[in-house]
Amino acid sequence: MEAVVGQIYKQGSTEVRVSAVAFRELLKLHRDPNWKSCVDGGSPGPPAPVSLHTRGSVGKSFGWNGGARRRMVGVRERMIELVNLAAPFWAGEAEIVRSYLTRPRTSDTDLRWLKAQAFKETRHLRILPRRVQDEYWRTGTVRNHPQGSEAGAKLAEEMKHFRLIAELIEFLTVTPVGMTDLLELPEETALQDLRQPYRGGTNFERCIVDFTEGGGGAMYWVLARVEGGDFERRTASAFRLIYDDEVLHGPGQIHTIGRLANSAADWEHAEDIVARVCAQRLRMRNEMFSWPVSVERIAAIGAGNIDPWPMPVAV
Ligand SMILES: [Fe+2]
Ligand SMILES: [Fe+2]
Repeated sequence: MEAVVGQIYKQGSTEVRVSAVAFRELLKLHRDPNWKSCVDGGSPGPPAPVSLHTRGSVGKSFGWNGGARRRMVGVRERMIELVNLAAPFWAGEAEIVRSYLTRPRTSDTDLRWLKAQAFKETRHLRILPRRVQDEYWRTGTVRNHPQGSEAGAKLAEEMKHFRLIAELIEFLTVTPVGMTDLLELPEETALQDLRQPYRGGTNFERCIVDFTEGGGGAMYWVLARVEGGDFERRTASAFRLIYDDEVLHGPGQIHTIGRLANSAADWEHAEDIVARVCAQRLRMRNEMFSWPVSVERIAAIGAGNIDPWPMPVAV
C-alpha cells in the first residue's frame, strides 16, 4: 500500500521532497505579513510560485521494513534531502552578507552586526548558572561544565569566537568590550524562542537544532573572504577560524541525525524543524546586517530561487 507522506518543493530546477508540515512552513514565507519585518519599510510581495504535488510509496522506497542495506541507502537519501531543504536558506544568508558588503557601510552598521554576532557567540555562557559564568570570567575557563566535557569543549570554542569578534569591535571603538555592550535583536530572540523547546527535548531534536546552527557556515565563509583595509583583513582572519569550528557544530551534525532517526516520522519532524528554523535565520541575518535584502527577494529565496549553498561536509 502506498502512503502519501511527502510533498515536492521545487527549488529552482531541482525538486526536494519535504514533509507536509515543512511545506506549509515554506509556503508561509510568501504569505506571512511578519516578513515585513525583514526589510526596512518594505512591503510584502505577492506569493511566489511554488509547485507541489504529493508523492507516495516513500515508506516502501526508503525501506524502513526492509533489510539493512536498503535501510542504509534510505538513511543517506534522507540525509541528502534534509541538506537540500536547508541549502537554499544557507545560500540566502550568504547573499544577505554579500549584499551588505557590496554597498556603502559605516562603522555604526559594522558595529551593529558585530555586536549582534558577539551576543550570539556568548549564548552558551549566558545560559549557565551565575556561579559558572563568574568562574569563566575569573579563570577564562569552566572546569566542570554542568552538561559534561563535550559541552565544556563547545563553550570554549564559542567563547573563542566571542573574543575574536570582540577584538574587531575594539578595533573600531578603541574601547574594551563586555557582555553588556552586546546587541540582542528581536529576530535573534525569536530564533532562540523557536529553538528552545527542541533544545529541551530529545537528543534527536537537540541534534536537529544543532544542524541549523551557523546557517551552513555561509556567513563565516563570505566574511572569511572580505577584502579591503586593515579592518577587513582582521575580519577575514577571525572568520576563517570561526568557520572551521562552525561547520562541525552545524552541518556536521547531519551524520548524528542519520544515526538517531528511526522512522519516516522522525525525518518529517527533522524537516519541519529545519524549515522553520532556517526561515527564521534569514530574518535574523537580514536584521543584523541592517536589512540589505528586500522582502521580495527573501520570499524568492524561501521559494528556492537561489543556487543552493554547497554542503561543507561530506554526506
Ligand atoms: Fe560560534
Ligand atoms: Fe557554534
